[in-house]
Amino acid sequence: MKLTLEEITRRVVDIPALPKVTNDIMRLTEDPDSNVQDIERVIMKDQSLTTRILRLANSAHYGYPRRISTISEASVLLGFQAIRSITLTASVNGLLMKEVSGYGLKENELWRQSQSCAIISRHIAKKLRFAKVDQAYVAGLLRDIGKVIVSYYLNDHFKQIMTMVESDGISFLEAEEKVLGFHHGQVGAEVAKKWNLPEELVEAIEYHHSPEEATINFKLTSIIHLADAIVMMMGIGLGVDGMIYNLSQETLQALGVDGLMLEQLISEVSDLLVDEDAF
Ligand SMILES: [Fe+2]
Repeated sequence: MKLTLEEITRRVVDIPALPKVTNDIMRLTEDPDSNVQDIERVIMKDQSLTTRILRLANSAHYGYPRRISTISEASVLLGFQAIRSITLTASVNGLLMKEVSGYGLKENELWRQSQSCAIISRHIAKKLRFAKVDQAYVAGLLRDIGKVIVSYYLNDHFKQIMTMVESDGISFLEAEEKVLGFHHGQVGAEVAKKWNLPEELVEAIEYHHSPEEATINFKLTSIIHLADAIVMMMGIGLGVDGMIYNLSQETLQALGVDGLMLEQLISEVSDLLVDEDAF
């Protein structure tokens, strides 16, 4: 029986809702009237989140020269948007750490890939002077979240998809679309909607393999696409869809990234990723 996107998105109910604390932080960090004390009060209720935030705040990603020891310090020094992305990261890591066998990803591999993609997305965003660097981080982190769901249903179709990839030389995503009638970006977008994430994040997740389709925030989606391609080029937790990757040349042009800059980006992010196990 052929699966439909409608059937599979019904399975999005299996994805846990974001914890209340995460929703509270998302709301507070968007609200211009909230202050550091409000944020600290909410986070401190959750001991493990507090620990994770402090650990990540002190990791090399944020490059802060002295030790950050309280949530209020972290909020002031790193900013609300960073607190928001760290909280979201802490909330989804359990989900992304799962084995995603349908895509040939062992336990922790999707997490490693996602975290790398998030760090690379933020780096590109900074380099291209994109204002929402933390939004880029979150989109990079969540771009393949749809795989967690699709993976369960892929087993029967996996062989067919792989044969297409190998014999027709098409990308895993194209084969996914041909065989299933939908791709993991669409399913990921459904998860993002369920979590009430902003529209531009939903879009970036949906079109991270075809950024030219983005209409709300083309630049954000393009940054995630490029970051995703770099993750694959670097061979981080490759899995099966990394074998043939269509890096959109139009997108590179639109972002103003040429071959030389791409090489430079890869060498810069290699240094950044040394500390990726900090979480
Ligand atoms: Fe993907």
